[in-house]
Amino acid sequence: MSERSVLVTGASGYIGSHTCVCLLQNGWRVIGIDNFSNSSPKVIPRIEQIAQLPMSFHRLDIRDTSALSEILRQEHITAVVHFAGLKSVSESVAKPLDYFDNNVCGSVALLRVLQQEGIRKLVFSSSATVYGEPTSVPVTEEASTSATNPYGRSKLMVEQMLSDLINSDATWRIATLRYFNPVGAHESGLIGEDPRDVPNNLMPFIAQVAVGRRPQLQVFGDDYPTVDGSGVRDYIHVVDLARGHLAALDRLLNHAGSFTVNLGTGRGVSVLQAVAAFEQASGRTIPLQRAARRSGDIATCYASATRATELLGWQAEYGLDKMCADHWRWQHNNPDGY
Ligand code: NAD
Ligand code: UFG
Repeated sequence: MSERSVLVTGASGYIGSHTCVCLLQNGWRVIGIDNFSNSSPKVIPRIEQIAQLPMSFHRLDIRDTSALSEILRQEHITAVVHFAGLKSVSESVAKPLDYFDNNVCGSVALLRVLQQEGIRKLVFSSSATVYGEPTSVPVTEEASTSATNPYGRSKLMVEQMLSDLINSDATWRIATLRYFNPVGAHESGLIGEDPRDVPNNLMPFIAQVAVGRRPQLQVFGDDYPTVDGSGVRDYIHVVDLARGHLAALDRLLNHAGSFTVNLGTGRGVSVLQAVAAFEQASGRTIPLQRAARRSGDIATCYASATRATELLGWQAEYGLDKMCADHWRWQHNNPDGY
């Protein structure tokens, strides 16, 4: 079998690290790049430890096109998985230019180098945020798109750019993956999500309360039209998400054309249900404080996961209990992160 090589941008990040493990374990040679703006160099040896295989790694900003070209010339890259970017909604409102520069200009820079080097297979990390406030659930890929903040707009802009690129040159094969809410960690407890500041997202916040780093969880909103008044989301185990990238790459290798798919479980879980599951998994009590709705939040969002199954033969395997157990093991073993 000829060796397949994949360039992974954002390789030391939360989703990137889990995907590198999965790629290595499935016969890909992995060349990772990251500027460590939101991750630690300690991640790379842990990826290798889990996979029991080596990977290449270069500390690099994707906007550094000459260094990027140099790497692509040295390595024989079959495809690229593009995670690198900034991801905080609130930070994007405060620093919009950073988000457009990193996420949009960074993607332009990467795509130009790929075009120049004749690499035409790409998997792009998009987000369910592009659905804005869904008019109905489960959300299918045909649902209308919109954005209410600079982060969401940066994802939409890149999606639109990719669509124009495909129209200009049919030899591109691009998988746009719209993630729902990634949570959990590798079951080894060696890699996981390690927010630099106060976590914005639910599961890392719950985990920090459980481990004693924070006194309580604020539950934003108690009067949404949901099962218990709290917000409902589609939480997906990060290892299932990583496997989705493998399936997307396999599709790109074997079929011409491009596609957009949701990666979610198809199941909605409320904040209070997530808290109960985490308490069960950790054996800890999570003190709660009811708080006002968080500005910009929606009541309910979960995926239609049908297209991913039909097109990629992929579906999420892990349920909420395993998401919480694995997230807890990571947090418990690494109370202060990496
Ligand atoms: P993350 O911050 O853990 O990982 C992103 C990585 O990219 C980090 O290691 C960071 O250092 C690196 N990076 C950022 N800008 C870079 C640049 N200019 N050059 C090189 N490296 C750079 O985030 P994540 O949760 O792993 O998310 C990965 C991708 O998935 C992002 O594009 C994000 O927007 C998208 N996404 C994430 C979520 C989520 O909830 N985690 C949901 C939907 C989509
Ligand atoms: N929540 C709380 N307390 C917290 C944090 C969150 O009650 O401290 C609630 C929220 O109100 C929401 C649910 O938990 O009902 C999930 O919130 P997250 O912030 O974890 O996830 P969101 O769905 O709001 O946002 C995430 C990413 C966005 C992305 C979006 C869609 O953070 O970047 O999913 O993919 F755009």
